[in-house]
Amino acid sequence: MSLYTKFGKPFLFHLGGEEAHWLTIASLRLAYQFPGGKMILQQLFQPSIKSDFQTEVAGILFPNPIGLAAGFDKNAEFTDELACLGFGSIEVGTVTPRPQLGNPRPRLFRLPADEALLNRMGFNNEGVHAAVNRLRKRKNREVIIGGNIGKNKSTPNEEAWKDYLTCFRVLAEEVDYFTINLSSPNTVGLRQLLEKEFLMPLLEPIQNENQKRNRPKPLFLKISPDMEREQFESILEALIALNINGIVATNTTIHRQSLKTTEEEIVPLGSGGISGLPLQKCSLEFLKSIHSKTNGKLAIISSGGIMNPEEGKVRLQNGANLIQLYSGLVYYGPSLVGNCLDRMYQ
Ligand code: FNR
Repeated sequence: MSLYTKFGKPFLFHLGGEEAHWLTIASLRLAYQFPGGKMILQQLFQPSIKSDFQTEVAGILFPNPIGLAAGFDKNAEFTDELACLGFGSIEVGTVTPRPQLGNPRPRLFRLPADEALLNRMGFNNEGVHAAVNRLRKRKNREVIIGGNIGKNKSTPNEEAWKDYLTCFRVLAEEVDYFTINLSSPNTVGLRQLLEKEFLMPLLEPIQNENQKRNRPKPLFLKISPDMEREQFESILEALIALNINGIVATNTTIHRQSLKTTEEEIVPLGSGGISGLPLQKCSLEFLKSIHSKTNGKLAIISSGGIMNPEEGKVRLQNGANLIQLYSGLVYYGPSLVGNCLDRMYQ
């Protein structure tokens, strides 16, 4: 049992989901700012085995294959601190062109019986300009930064492509790759953008602009685990046709079957996307399916239900180029990153 699961988690789980998130991040910042704190954090969380974990994906050399999933550092405020935990990459965002508040609180809940989270944050963020200003000032230039981009709630789907293009333009100098997020369940109508009539007209202008750059940025599309096979297949075709580099599979699910949390417990919490252990099987199925259908033509970042090193290993063995963590950190703490690196390759 780690210090986190023995002491940190029981304390944090007494707080609301969002309050616990901010307290954790504030503690990390405090520790980082303390003289010598950065070194202590690195020593505490670095993997115990000394090995070369570097991996090249879409032309980028990642220090290691473990990334922090989007949503944890929405405003790119803590990349230096989070890098001390051993991540090879940090996906900031989702950012939108203009700042927005997101849904009213409470909007983040834990489902401990399922090792899951339920969230309906709704892209609360300070806007892409605030994010890029912070990224310009970051000190750690080794960790790979992904920019996860979205649209404002008030932007109609017909004009969504403009929001994505704006975010792309503003962030392009400061991020190493982009994730185009069309799969959050918490912005009404967003997932409709994964449909053919919206998908190509949305991706094409970004890729056109990208290809005019001296060094185009790798583009990834983040998909929903809740779509039908037919839609999934047409998305893969579109991505390959547009030379999109890869796919982040998957975002949270709106499905609630086979949860241990009872109806009486979950209904009062309201709507939202579920992450963590209940997503594990489905996320793995998507990974296998993408890998077998695309035969290495798309790089795959596997996200969803990676709660331990064993599951991380399963993802890499089944075709993932990189993996991302979120809910696992809430349930198992920051040492999960180093533990994964120590044990995934055994
Ligand atoms: C998320 N996730 C997410 N994804 C995204 O593309 N943009 C976002 O802004 C957010 N925001 C967000 C907030 C919260 C509170 C959670 C729990 C999740 C989804 C996240 O990046 C990841 O894909 C899923 O959580 C699945 O991974 P885990 O949590 O099962 O490891």
